[in-house]
Amino acid sequence: MRVLIEQSYEALSRKAAQIVQEQITAKPDSVLGLATGSTPLGLYAELIRLFKVGEIDFSKVVSYNLDEYFPIKKSNEQSYDFFMRKNFFDHVNISKKFIPDGEASNYSAECAAYEKKIADSEIDLQILGIGNNGHIGFNEPSNFFEEKTHYVQLDESTIQANARFFAHESDVPRHAITMGIGTIMRAKKILLLASGATKAEIIHELLNGKISPKNPSSVLKLHRDVTVIIDRDASLPFLFEERF
Ligand code: F6R
Repeated sequence: MRVLIEQSYEALSRKAAQIVQEQITAKPDSVLGLATGSTPLGLYAELIRLFKVGEIDFSKVVSYNLDEYFPIKKSNEQSYDFFMRKNFFDHVNISKKFIPDGEASNYSAECAAYEKKIADSEIDLQILGIGNNGHIGFNEPSNFFEEKTHYVQLDESTIQANARFFAHESDVPRHAITMGIGTIMRAKKILLLASGATKAEIIHELLNGKISPKNPSSVLKLHRDVTVIIDRDASLPFLFEERF
């Protein structure tokens, strides 16, 4: 696991965008795994900027998002479908993009269909954020690692963390569809981003703790190509002082 500590959220976002750009330059038809949440917003803004100045071309790129609330209408501003259109897809020329369908009539069938689509493809670079409880995608702390795309009940701590995006906590959906740990681990490269003091503890746990499904992100230690980019606030002071 390679850890990069950047001075600021802006620097973190630029570094992440550079890694995505290098990936697409090396392989124009790259398959990207994408995340939502507040962390990758700066990355998406920088990728849009690079696209507008002609330094990146997404025309052959295919993307798969990690997760989506369930059930949820695509027109709902809190759906990840809406988020991705607003913050990224509507501004670039990405050819094909897939997100679990929050409007599907049957979540089991949707999970199986989404898993199959990804398996037929193969993700070159997976972008991840991390929950305060260590979740990646919506793989919440558990007694085991769930392998495939599945329907999940969100943790109380995740509901509270995501309540900031909704008018009332009671509006936060209680369920979601998420890629599984196996789905994520099959990606050839993984880029995990974490910003802000609220992530410092879980990042410390990720870097120093044991591999356990109680901290789903810990499984990433078993992957051979993971880059973690954190900013100053997400790093414990001693880590930061060592770097600068
Ligand atoms: C989002 C996702 C989640 C977030 C995590 C961190 O697609 O899969 O795992 O990455 O909840 O969210 P933020 O970035 O809002 O702190």
